[in-house]
Amino acid sequence: MTKPPPRIVRTVADLRNVAGEWKGQSLRSTLVPTMGALHKGHLEIVRMAKTLAERTIVSIFVNPTQFNNPNDLANYPRTLDADWRMLEEAGVDLLFAPRQHEMYPEDFTTKITVSKVSEGLCGAFRPGHFEGVATVVAKLFNQSQANFAVLGEKDYQQLHVVRRMTRDLDIPIEIVAHPTVREPDGLAMSSRNARLTPQERQLAPELARQLNIAAAAFGRGTPAQDIYQVAHKAILAAGFSSVEYFELRAERDLMPLQSLSEPARLLVAANLGRVRLIDNVPVSE
Ligand code: PAJ
Repeated sequence: MTKPPPRIVRTVADLRNVAGEWKGQSLRSTLVPTMGALHKGHLEIVRMAKTLAERTIVSIFVNPTQFNNPNDLANYPRTLDADWRMLEEAGVDLLFAPRQHEMYPEDFTTKITVSKVSEGLCGAFRPGHFEGVATVVAKLFNQSQANFAVLGEKDYQQLHVVRRMTRDLDIPIEIVAHPTVREPDGLAMSSRNARLTPQERQLAPELARQLNIAAAAFGRGTPAQDIYQVAHKAILAAGFSSVEYFELRAERDLMPLQSLSEPARLLVAANLGRVRLIDNVPVSE
């Protein structure tokens, strides 16, 4: 028997009603926050979410406060009908797709700032981005009252920001991380990949390839500066227009590392045509 399509709710009041019904029946729930334009990576996260609790909620909201670039916001793909069909197939119970004024009424003034983990990396190149993320995610957690939330390691700094925000504000939700889902050629799946030209799409996997080469070099004890120099050159030579950062950070607290003194991540952001791509890999000895 196929599952019925997920119920779609557009207001916080309706979401709370459903959440309340489930609580009354002692059913736990998992939230998967997204901005839509769903791809296979999102669906893998949904699959994990379904193993954690009896009910699964997916939120789709293109959150304007996390876009520091108005063009990026305007060009962000919006595919609600296709998303809904994918979620139906995936067996999701509830889709929360609030409109902008529902999330941000005109008199909205609160901003959540998560210091330290928001600094550097994407935080340095996207001013205000993580404040927007932390604020909207805190709202979604409070609105859904979910027991679990699954976030992807693809957005590794975001995962740290959300974890810290949840802990610091005592929000009763357990954050579960999902490993990065990749295309067969290694490119990390992303809603933004759809905006690459066919030629750029062919070049894009070079980012993941350089991360893996650099991670292996760290494992052999090659000095960080040498690794960074080689990687920058190779990424630009492949056809990327700029490398925003290429850095080793501690997995534990995301603080900068000069060498492989503890479990680490290597993180990169680079621009290819009109598209900004990010990726990261774990690094170990
Ligand atoms: P979005 O980019 O739609 O991503 C939704 C979730 O899917 C995030 O947790 C992200 O890390 C994860 N994800 C995306 N691509 C992935 C991949 N290839 N492998 C693993 N996980 C992947 O991230 C956001 O939306 C927003 O910032 C949000 C958290 C919803 C707040 O607005």
